[in-house]
Amino acid sequence: MRLVEALRGAEQDRPPVWLMRQAGRYLPEYRALRQRVGGFLELCYDPKLACEVTMQPIRRFGMDAAILFSDILVVPDALGQGVAFRDGEGPVLDAIDGGGVDGLTEAGMVNRLAPVLETVERVRGELASEVALIGFAGAPWTVATYMVEGGSSKDFAAIKTWAFKDPDGFSRLIDLLARVTADYLIALIRSGVNVVQLFDTWAGVLPAWAFERWVVAPTRQIVDRVRATAPDIPIIGFPRGAGVSLVRFADGTGVDGVGLDSAVPLDWARDTLQSKVAVQGNLDPMMLVAGGDAMLDSARDILRTLGGGGLVFNLGHGVVPATPPEHVAALVSFVQDWRG
Ligand code: CP3
Repeated sequence: MRLVEALRGAEQDRPPVWLMRQAGRYLPEYRALRQRVGGFLELCYDPKLACEVTMQPIRRFGMDAAILFSDILVVPDALGQGVAFRDGEGPVLDAIDGGGVDGLTEAGMVNRLAPVLETVERVRGELASEVALIGFAGAPWTVATYMVEGGSSKDFAAIKTWAFKDPDGFSRLIDLLARVTADYLIALIRSGVNVVQLFDTWAGVLPAWAFERWVVAPTRQIVDRVRATAPDIPIIGFPRGAGVSLVRFADGTGVDGVGLDSAVPLDWARDTLQSKVAVQGNLDPMMLVAGGDAMLDSARDILRTLGGGGLVFNLGHGVVPATPPEHVAALVSFVQDWRG
């Protein structure tokens, strides 16, 4: 599989391409199916429909990898913290504080995600053998932001106040999430995923010492535990917004690949990161909305600068709903026709 080879550092005629949020609202076939099902989480827990949604972008565009259709918030849901997705509002959770950690039901957590594991088996059965299946989880810090803020946040006031005032108490939540996330990724691998990715969307909002303690350290614990069971499965970490701390992330976590957001300079990534890890990224998602020569020129820059080393072509963040599907088709063909 081209994605697995790239993450192992093998030389290939061209890099693999897939896109974060490649399944979703920009696709009319997703919107049609989503309308028939009640809620977003119901869709995530319906193996037949979640499999169908996972396959939609592969059928249309032929990316080199499929990403399991699910969400990072199925983990707090399975821990017993209520999660609701209301249309146009994003996720809503009953926020927890220090006292709430003991109320989370760690035991049996993976069993409650059995429908997601069934989706993995179905998708792996339908995918062509050369197309990799990516399983994922949110990294502990990012999942904790939703659990403590009760949803999306702009300033992370509640979680930072707790973490900065009582770091040892807060670490109990991070440690619990690191344990269950490792268990969950191992279960996904046993069910058939070929690569795993940890999404740390909010890694970039922390001071350096806190990045070390709540991003690097728990990611290292998860990597070590997954490797002990599944040494051959490549692991991608995506600490969005980490900037120069990407170097510390690559050195300190042991991941095989590092996701780059769109602000990371390509020559810096080549000179500083690519000797240590494969890199994944980083076309700006709005370039995919813009399309045309602007999009292809940016894609060519990425391929020319980073294509000589380990590279997984992707966006710097997820596909946005306003994206024209024809632009996705043009981008995927462009990368797949490229020869370094
Ligand atoms: O990439 C894929 O195609 C696989 C599926 C996937 C989803 N969410 C589906 C989804 C993945 C990998 C995620 C990860 C995720 N979820 C992250 C990390 C990556 C990132 O985007 O930063 C985060 C922070 C979440 C939490 C989440 N889920 C939010 C904040 C929202 C609401 C915002 C939004 O875009 O609607 C979701 C909902 C969600 N997750 C949708 C999809 C397709 C939209 C739900 C719908 O159909 O209404």
